[in-house]
Amino acid sequence: MRQHVNPLSNNFDETEIIPSLMEMFDDSKFPLHLDIGCASGEFLFDLALVNKNWNYLGIEIREKLVKTAKLKMQEREIKNLYFIFGNANKILNDFYCELIIKNLKSISFNFPDPWFKKRHHKRRVIQPEFINVLSKSMQKGSLIFVKTDVKDLFDDMDFIITRNSNFKKINQKYYNYSESFNPNKVLTNREKYVIDNHLDIFQRIYIKI
Ligand SMILES: C[S@@+](CC[C@H](N)C(=O)[O-])C[C@H]1O[C@@H](n2cnc3c(N)ncnc32)[C@H](O)[C@@H]1O
Repeated sequence: MRQHVNPLSNNFDETEIIPSLMEMFDDSKFPLHLDIGCASGEFLFDLALVNKNWNYLGIEIREKLVKTAKLKMQEREIKNLYFIFGNANKILNDFYCELIIKNLKSISFNFPDPWFKKRHHKRRVIQPEFINVLSKSMQKGSLIFVKTDVKDLFDDMDFIITRNSNFKKINQKYYNYSESFNPNKVLTNREKYVIDNHLDIFQRIYIKI
């Protein structure tokens, strides 16, 4: 399977119809976390099985991974987890997603594709227009978590998010993870690989003000 999918390809112009929160989750009143670029969803399965009073939503652009994750979710009858296939930039820009964004407590971008070549930077998931769309609908106090092992990508994402005056960096030293979507600091697959290989991790949390 190809590892990298060009999100700007017109294959992703059409987005799937997003069900309402009540259709996606057993209890739509639970706090909601969104993981963008969730791959096969293993991170979200780990979270959803442990934190049963949170709802978890994953968006992934590789269709085969989403189909497999959805099957696994149905087989295991997990009711606080849902997956959506497509380009997150397009999906969340859709008018119908405004309500979902309004309901988010937090969003994570875990190890997004780096697209190293300068001419490919426009394929990176965090773009100024995208952060602008999120900032318009996210509630005050909701959070964005960013993690990567690529310093250049981290600097780029940090520049884009902090340039939007609706977001402010949080001092992670004082952040209380026990109230977050990931109280046990579950690791993503890429994170496990990065740790095993002693690579650096660059991470930051931003709050909507
Ligand atoms: C390097 S992988 C990291 C996967 C996982 N978050 C982790 O930490 O192990 C990046 C993932 O983001 C997905 N992705 C890239 N651009 C995307 C986009 N615009 N919308 C949704 N998913 C995207 C890729 O297909 C890939 O599965």
